[in-house]
Amino acid sequence: MTSIQPRRDSGAATAGADLGAMERDIERILLSEEQIRVRIDEVARSVTREYAGRDFTVVSVLKGSCIFASDLIRRIPIPLELAFVAASSYGDGTQSGELHLNFLPSDNEIAGRNLLLVDDILDTGKTMNALKKELLRQGAHEVRTCVFLDKPSRRDVEFDADFRCFEIEDLFVVGYGLDFAGRYRNLPFVGALRREAFERANRS
Ligand code: IMP
Ligand code: MG
Repeated sequence: MTSIQPRRDSGAATAGADLGAMERDIERILLSEEQIRVRIDEVARSVTREYAGRDFTVVSVLKGSCIFASDLIRRIPIPLELAFVAASSYGDGTQSGELHLNFLPSDNEIAGRNLLLVDDILDTGKTMNALKKELLRQGAHEVRTCVFLDKPSRRDVEFDADFRCFEIEDLFVVGYGLDFAGRYRNLPFVGALRREAFERANRS
């Protein structure tokens, strides 16, 4: 049987070459594309069961959750709406800073609605805690939460997500939406950065 091989100069080959520079900064892969795919299928099924027969809106927390939210919602085969909020707490480093909430959805996207707040990672818990409170204050009927990663050992405020894909150790990770100094969000897996990559960013 003949199989079709990608040509050397195809888009796929070029994309592989471009990823190389970033991949060299990764010390080890924590979650592969395949592990992520399998787990998101499971979580999407749980979310679907939770909201079957109920209107709901997925609120994706920018920027980090854009990849996770877009993969998740495409596996949820029931009607939903999509909204975005932007929260930033990290600046360019790896330490939690002051939290800023921007681009909250409009009043009619919040008031009386069932919201599923989706974020990339639950770390100190400050972002999700603040966002949930604010959305309820603005009249949401219900706010549930779904996170791609959870680092329970880092919590400053008590907070549990209703849905989560993976629990990880206390380690700064990048990829699949998560960044360091704005980069590495487009890696299709989750990995730990090499020390040299942190040091390079700190020097520049
Ligand atoms: P929290 O408010 O401390 O829970 O932080 C949540 C935000 O911190 C996430 O949305 C990320 O933007 C960022 N963050 C926390 N841990 C990591 C990490 O390991 N890699 C990249 N970003 C992280
Ligand atoms: Mg973030």
